[in-house]
Amino acid sequence: MLFSPEPKVSEEDLFDFRVELNQLVSAIRMSRLTIITGIRRSGKTSLLNVAIRKSGLPYVYFDVRLSAYPNYADLAVIWARAIEDFIRRESGLREKILNALKDVTGLAIGINPIKVEVRFRGPGKLDIAQLLIKINDLAGEVGGKVIIAIDEAQELRRVNWLRFDRLMAYAMTT
Ligand SMILES: Nc1ncnc2c1ncn2[C@@H]1O[C@H](COP(=O)(O)OP(=O)(O)OP(=O)(O)O)[C@@H](O)[C@H]1O
Ligand SMILES: [Mg+2]
Repeated sequence: MLFSPEPKVSEEDLFDFRVELNQLVSAIRMSRLTIITGIRRSGKTSLLNVAIRKSGLPYVYFDVRLSAYPNYADLAVIWARAIEDFIRRESGLREKILNALKDVTGLAIGINPIKVEVRFRGPGKLDIAQLLIKINDLAGEVGGKVIIAIDEAQELRRVNWLRFDRLMAYAMTT
């Protein structure tokens, strides 16, 4: 549906973005970090949605909509939802994902039904750095890459008690 108000997810619904889509798919496959910028309502989310699917790579998708003063719980819940969606969607990789993430501090994965729970308080709270490293290890095991797709990534600036840029850099170089 070309005129639906939601972001698009399939290539047939994407209008006039052939060049951008191909560029984005190759960028996702070839480079470590790709940033999509553009004015509001210009199709960034749609382009991202279609490109990650077209890339054929496994992806963890984050929609970073945060409250006015985001705390650790807000962030941990966003991770939990993203991991839950990842496990549901990538059914062929389920065993490998469960195995890779089984010892992450503060993360508990239940199957049947799939449910991801996170701790966000105390010394046993979700270790986001460790989780990123485990996803990186998983990538090695599944033959190369797992995409971390973050929509509205600029929102992470508001989590000023955690340096996401450093966390990402750390996870990508270990
Ligand atoms: N190339 C396109 N083909 C079809 N529909 C499009 C295209 N670009 C944008 N749209 C439509 O325009 C609206 C805004 O698109 P989308 O949400 O993808 O943009 P955005 O840049 O992520 O917006 P925002 O800045 O609000 O996050 C949606 O209804 C989407 O379906
Ligand atoms: Mg958007």
